[in-house]
Amino acid sequence: MTLLLGIDVGTSAVKALVCDERGTIIAAASAPLELSTPRAGWSEQDPRQWWRATVAAVRAVVQSPGVHASSIRAVGLSGQMHGLVLMGADVRGPCPSALRPAILWNDQRCAPQCARIEELAGGRAALVRACGNAALAGFTAPKILWVREHEPETFHRASVLLLPKDYIRLCLTGAAAQDVSDASGTMLLDAATRRWNASFLSRLGLDPALLPPVLESAAPAGTLTPLASADLGLPPGALVAAGAGDNMAGAIGAGVVEAGQCLATIGTSGVIYTHSREPRADLPIAEGAPSGRTHLFLAGDGDAFRPGGFSITGCTLSAGGSLQWLHDALFPDVSYDQLLADAAAVSPGAEGLFFLPYLTGERAPHPDPNARGAFVGLSLRHRRGHLVRAVLEGVTFTMAQILAIQGSLGLNPPVVRLGGGGARSALWRQMQADVYGKPVTLTNTEDGPALGAAMLGGVAAGVWGSVPEACRAVVRETHRIEPAEPERYLAVQAVFDRLYHDLRPAFGDMSRL
Ligand code: XUL
Repeated sequence: MTLLLGIDVGTSAVKALVCDERGTIIAAASAPLELSTPRAGWSEQDPRQWWRATVAAVRAVVQSPGVHASSIRAVGLSGQMHGLVLMGADVRGPCPSALRPAILWNDQRCAPQCARIEELAGGRAALVRACGNAALAGFTAPKILWVREHEPETFHRASVLLLPKDYIRLCLTGAAAQDVSDASGTMLLDAATRRWNASFLSRLGLDPALLPPVLESAAPAGTLTPLASADLGLPPGALVAAGAGDNMAGAIGAGVVEAGQCLATIGTSGVIYTHSREPRADLPIAEGAPSGRTHLFLAGDGDAFRPGGFSITGCTLSAGGSLQWLHDALFPDVSYDQLLADAAAVSPGAEGLFFLPYLTGERAPHPDPNARGAFVGLSLRHRRGHLVRAVLEGVTFTMAQILAIQGSLGLNPPVVRLGGGGARSALWRQMQADVYGKPVTLTNTEDGPALGAAMLGGVAAGVWGSVPEACRAVVRETHRIEPAEPERYLAVQAVFDRLYHDLRPAFGDMSRL
């Protein structure tokens, strides 16, 4: 029997799983990670912590019943995107030290560097034209400029820049590389050629020699070193695939790898991920119109023989996070099931109550760090169920706004596949079908990024001929929910769509208080 190992380097845990050639999961384990916030808005992790957690999670799965370590043929990687890992010249050993802690995707320190990048590119629209994306503090390029500016000695000692899962690859294989999907979240990759963007690098004054080779996600990227195999309890020489950023690996685990397929994931954040055969950047339709609201990234469906497609994503920062906030702040003693039952007893529109989910600022559909959450329309009639329903609706309307932006880029998926914790609620599933005005579906797979990583390992090892073939073998649709009463949300969403614009000046004033 051939077994595959998937490793997902998340933000709060490293997850490992072993599956067989049908994608059946035989064992899964995770090991927790800690986040360090040395200053407000900063978010860092020591890469060696990732390796220790990887060793713990992989050893746990390898020792599980039914897993014969000697049958593990390939390893695939997935990980939190955008984090900056600076390695010096000496990268030997099983777990080499980075030059400083990694600066993560949710770190907010780089607003001035984002402004500088935009200026160097000649404005936001020019930047989106040059690299497909607006500059966000979460992305990697502004973090590189921050280190160059604030810690020049560290910067000048750097010999290679990696992303979180690529540090694990370095530990596994001894070789430095990135994959195209994760690399597209640095702002430094040219989407059209799938190579480092030499002209943009020179505009930023960055030496291309700092960047390792980039590979398609299902391409082989080396084999396990004897040291790493001994640490992990794996057969030496097992193949390691290039892997993918967690959003792209999650899409593979959900079978979203062909043109026009779309995945709506509601976890802490909410992501609309649509696969495209062409690069589609959110360019302004007129002078001063918004741009860069959705991200143009590369998908993880390419392999050693053919390039993959593109992933057009929009991320709202507090989706499930808004429901969790409501629970923790107001109803900590009430179960989520009860809260959802209360919401189901209220009719669509929550009797005039609206919720704006910008609890941590917003990325899409409104790239605005000053935006804040709000209940609007409260009246004496409103009870707990109304508050919960308004939160679910506010998040769903926001996801629908992202779908509408993607629609303006020519992406109109006929069906939306659901993922994340939000897909577990029947109420939220039906609400998504009604508000999106499209059927929504569920699949037999739930392990997203770690499963997608294992599947990439399988393609690299020749278990499947391509990533879409792997998805056809592993992922099945199990449920389909048709829109039932979409018209009941139309007038409500029209009011919701106005609220951010009406409140934006107040959000700006509030940020200056
Ligand atoms: C994607 C993003 C996050 C991280 C966290 O753009 O910032 O989804 O990948 O896992």
